[in-house]
Amino acid sequence: MATEAFPQRPNPGAVPLALSSQEWWQRAQHVMPGGVNSPSRSFHGVGGGMPPVMVRGQGAWIEDADGRRYLDYQAAYGPLILGHAHPAVAAAIAAQAAEGTVMGATHPLEVSWAEHLTAAIPQMHWVRLVSTGTEAVMSALRLARAATGRPRIVKFAGLYHGHSDGMLVKAGSGAATVGVETSAGVTPGVQQDVAVLPYNSEAAAADYLARHGREVAAVLVEPVVGNSGTLLPRPGYLAALRQLADRWGALLIFDEVITAFRFRAGAVEQEPGVVPDLYCLGKIIGGGLAAGAYGGRADLQDWLAPAGPVYQAGTHAGNPLAAAAGLATLQVLAASPPYARMDALGAQLEAGLRERADRAGVPVVINRKGGMLTLFFTAGPVDSAADAARASAPRFHTFYHAMLGQGIYLAPSALECWFVSAVHTAEDIERTLAAAEMALAAAAAVR
Ligand SMILES: Cc1ncc(COP(=O)(O)O)c(C=O)c1O
Repeated sequence: MATEAFPQRPNPGAVPLALSSQEWWQRAQHVMPGGVNSPSRSFHGVGGGMPPVMVRGQGAWIEDADGRRYLDYQAAYGPLILGHAHPAVAAAIAAQAAEGTVMGATHPLEVSWAEHLTAAIPQMHWVRLVSTGTEAVMSALRLARAATGRPRIVKFAGLYHGHSDGMLVKAGSGAATVGVETSAGVTPGVQQDVAVLPYNSEAAAADYLARHGREVAAVLVEPVVGNSGTLLPRPGYLAALRQLADRWGALLIFDEVITAFRFRAGAVEQEPGVVPDLYCLGKIIGGGLAAGAYGGRADLQDWLAPAGPVYQAGTHAGNPLAAAAGLATLQVLAASPPYARMDALGAQLEAGLRERADRAGVPVVINRKGGMLTLFFTAGPVDSAADAARASAPRFHTFYHAMLGQGIYLAPSALECWFVSAVHTAEDIERTLAAAEMALAAAAAVR
């Protein structure tokens, strides 16, 4: 670790390698707004403090600049279902890097990637690859507006669909965590074209569509929510959205940026008959590199340029490196599906947390699907963003820092998920529960 003072405005050509987390953090704050390139990485959501600067990851572990190791449940907000630096993924990236990183032309790996995605999600008849989940949703909405000739989008409070203008109206996740659910800079005109309804209320959707259905291009939803923490759809809710969209001639779009390939090697399983018109994908499909995708009903592709009038493009869309990482990840998931194991580990974690919260006398709700879960400090139930907002923030802050101090790395917000990955072990879960014993007792002491 360097002990000498570092320059305030360092020469980038002479970056000292061995600085502490605190030294890197101070430097970051000089050159990057808030010290971060994505606000959710700050510690605004956990009562402040300095986020550790992370230098490497291996499997289920991540290490900071001070050499401290943490069991990682943040998983970079979801892509790392195979953990950090999985050998098959690292090898695929290295092999492609040696052959060139971007072609500006169709590349065999992106074709194979698209083939894999459409085979894994049979109702997705075509796919357009982009570089982020934000682009996937933004482009799907443009397509929906063109195909229906209508302006308005129905979305749900506290869900997050990336940071395109219209999606930052009452958004969840990092936007809610740092207190800007509706971002400054989003014009009233844009806001007017977005209706925000409570999640899990069939009545609210039916009522809105009865009044404005003929202006609605699309109903956009995370079928299992990860951005107000984990929220599960009530039985029949997604089927009701499908029926309402059909009745009013709107498209149904599932934002599966978090959920696709997380619970099975494809999209979230649905009740019979519930198929969206469009899917939006991201995170896992890129295997840790930047990737997104959207696709769906066969006829809708005719709207997209070059065949049709809806323009959408990208220098790095279908990037060969992302294709290599994504395809390698999807192939590992297909060859040895980790889903039953992840579900068992998720259940072990859930049961252990519940038991320890009971012992500590602190009311909690744990929403879980497979290896994805959120612990809310409330008596619950938690079925919507409004329910999630009732959870105790001070208790979460105390819990978070107590876990971090014991080497357990969670996303720094009560509105995010814990991700159990394919490389966590039962021993890792026990270690996590041992830390939670103390952290829950500390949270219980907070009034
Ligand atoms: C459901 C959902 N949609 C879209 C996005 C945006 O994806 P990206 O951050 O890759 O732009 C996210 C990101 O967290 C997400 O969770």
